[in-house]
Amino acid sequence: MQRLGKIAVLGAGNVGGSLAQRLAEMDLADEVVLLDIVEGLPEGKALDLQESAPILGFSTRVRGSTSLDALAGAEIVVETAGLARKPGMSRSDLLAKNAAIVKGHADAVRAKAPQAVVVVVTNPVDVMTHYFQEQSGLPPARVFGESGTLDTARFRWFVAEALGVAPRDVVGFVLGTHGDTMVPILTLASVGGVPLGRLLPPEKIQAIVERTKQGGGEIVNLLKTGSAFYAPSASQAELVAAVARNERRLLPVSAHLDGAFGERGVYLGVPAVLGRGGVERIVEVELTPSERSAFAQSVAAVRADLTILAQLGARPGAA
Ligand code: 2OP
Repeated sequence: MQRLGKIAVLGAGNVGGSLAQRLAEMDLADEVVLLDIVEGLPEGKALDLQESAPILGFSTRVRGSTSLDALAGAEIVVETAGLARKPGMSRSDLLAKNAAIVKGHADAVRAKAPQAVVVVVTNPVDVMTHYFQEQSGLPPARVFGESGTLDTARFRWFVAEALGVAPRDVVGFVLGTHGDTMVPILTLASVGGVPLGRLLPPEKIQAIVERTKQGGGEIVNLLKTGSAFYAPSASQAELVAAVARNERRLLPVSAHLDGAFGERGVYLGVPAVLGRGGVERIVEVELTPSERSAFAQSVAAVRADLTILAQLGARPGAA
């Protein structure tokens, strides 16, 4: 398969900047374009990154721009723009402000990169992914959100740390919303093929689940002036690579549900096969009664945010 022409990253903050770095170093496309409204920020980060190419050996061209015209023809767009959480803020507090940013970008993608696959990262991510798809009019399969890959990475690290094993040998699956109602599916967690329940006592596993749920907040509380970006950008790069290389990875992402898991018309974290067309299919797994009820709480949380968004008048057709 031919290398991609252009990947665009909207937002040159910590997340967008470190994502652009990872994508350039992975040499996934001829060009990585970093966009932001702050004059000089995307250009400066892009040039700085570009100047690392001779040392690191990548041939991707890295450009920075403050004009959305630079989206033209992008095959993959990653939406990272938006405000990050401050201590004490929930992801939903960000709703109104970030919806306005997402709307502008969705309009621009529709106009300039209508063939793109879009990965949305802006929080609250399940709601913003829904909103991006609705505003852009792109097919739902081509718009998905980063959620479970990040939460799963955190879960996997905590398990690896507890057992003193290589992080890559730990497999986990965190579904549902990227928020307090996320649903770690413990029956799918294993280490080198050994079910997690045989390796750790239930109370230790429960503590890891709780820490995973608070994983984003734990970083916010430590950093005080922003939120996580190293693990988020690693997880986003994994998603972008799955699309760019048509890898058909089975990963948890926020995908449009049209009957899967008994839900319709809502974006939520579910296992999905990712390829060049975006979400190629959703893989339904049977949930235990308690996982099902946690998943239902996730759905309710996302629907509540969608209602708030509608009341704020931010959705199409609203005043
Ligand atoms: C996180 O979980 C910011 O939502 C992001 O770190």
